[in-house]
Amino acid sequence: MFHAWYVEDKKTPAVFKEVSEDILQGDTLIKVHSSSINFKDALALHGRPGVIRNFPLIAGIDVTGEVVESEHENWKPGDMVTLNGAGLGENLHGGLAEMARVKGADLVAVPSAFTPAQASAIGTAGFTAQLAVTALEGNGLLPDEHPVLVTGAGGGAGSIAISLLAAAGYEVTAATGRVDKLGPQLRALGATEVIHRDEVAAARRPMDSTRWSAVVDGVGGEILAGAIAATDPDGAIASYGLAASSDLPTTVLPFILRGISLLGINSVQVSAGMRQLAWDRLAADLSPEHVDLITSTVSLDQAQDAAAALLEGKGTGRTVVQVS
Ligand SMILES: NC(=O)c1ccc[n+]([C@@H]2O[C@H](COP(=O)([O-])OP(=O)(O)OC[C@H]3O[C@@H](n4cnc5c(N)ncnc54)[C@H](OP(=O)(O)O)[C@@H]3O)[C@@H](O)[C@H]2O)c1
Repeated sequence: MFHAWYVEDKKTPAVFKEVSEDILQGDTLIKVHSSSINFKDALALHGRPGVIRNFPLIAGIDVTGEVVESEHENWKPGDMVTLNGAGLGENLHGGLAEMARVKGADLVAVPSAFTPAQASAIGTAGFTAQLAVTALEGNGLLPDEHPVLVTGAGGGAGSIAISLLAAAGYEVTAATGRVDKLGPQLRALGATEVIHRDEVAAARRPMDSTRWSAVVDGVGGEILAGAIAATDPDGAIASYGLAASSDLPTTVLPFILRGISLLGINSVQVSAGMRQLAWDRLAADLSPEHVDLITSTVSLDQAQDAAAALLEGKGTGRTVVQVS
């Protein structure tokens, strides 16, 4: 038996209880070191719809821990591994638990640049931020006269995107709803300018004067539409989230008159090769000090309380759930 955040059905919040190891499936058994709280985890822990598709299920879309036993050729007992997405906490039992079973093919070794807790702090948020930066570079992004805009900058993925972009030599403008509170921290991560998100949403739509060479967006809605309106010709927007809205109130004009690309980022279904590449790049570019700067830590039984702030849009940086 082990402790886990267990979601019984689609109407009730998760409960912290003991469950049997027999319910776990997967070729690799992990003793969980830590997990984290992403927006999706906050929804699942508080019984909000839209994340979990199989009930009952253990919540948690991230897991980092030590391999106990594995039938996969890559892993042996004692290896420290991490996994983001791949169905965890959505249709497979997840990482907010003392034990987990996963598919060995999806696992990545915790890079030597990071401690296991830092790997959990990076988690899906950092993995997604890296996928977004890689997508923008694939679209031809180079350090340019205009900065890269990062929206939802105070959140987990936004904060890590700032650090990654600045480390890669891009000028970064951070857009947040909490300029006074978060300004110093966002500058410490590498943003050269911190603006209020309303300024982004206020752009004349569908097109305005251009300000951004590219955009990393985690909020959607009017902010995304405003960001698109001010993106340079042939620039791109990596869209990964909907913290504000799933709407996109714009027209096709920026796309067909400016050649702008909207690049969708899905961190859940990612090939093993792309997972490894993303983590290699995180290990090379993401400062562990920046990870620590944005991380707070709670124990496993405190995860549900800690998740409440994310649902109110008041989460800052990353929350690690320390398990063992
Ligand atoms: N596509 C994928 O694979 C993927 C992966 C990870 C996350 N996501 C999604 O991306 C989004 C962000 O994830 P996260 O883990 O970074 O969440 P988070 O830590 O909660 O950060 C979200 C940030 O968005 C901003 N925000 C919140 N509510 C807002 C509102 N009503 N209007 C405008 N801005 C608002 C806030 O930043 P400020 O206070 O700085 O304004 C907040 O800190 C979520 O929708 C999540 O589900 C998707």
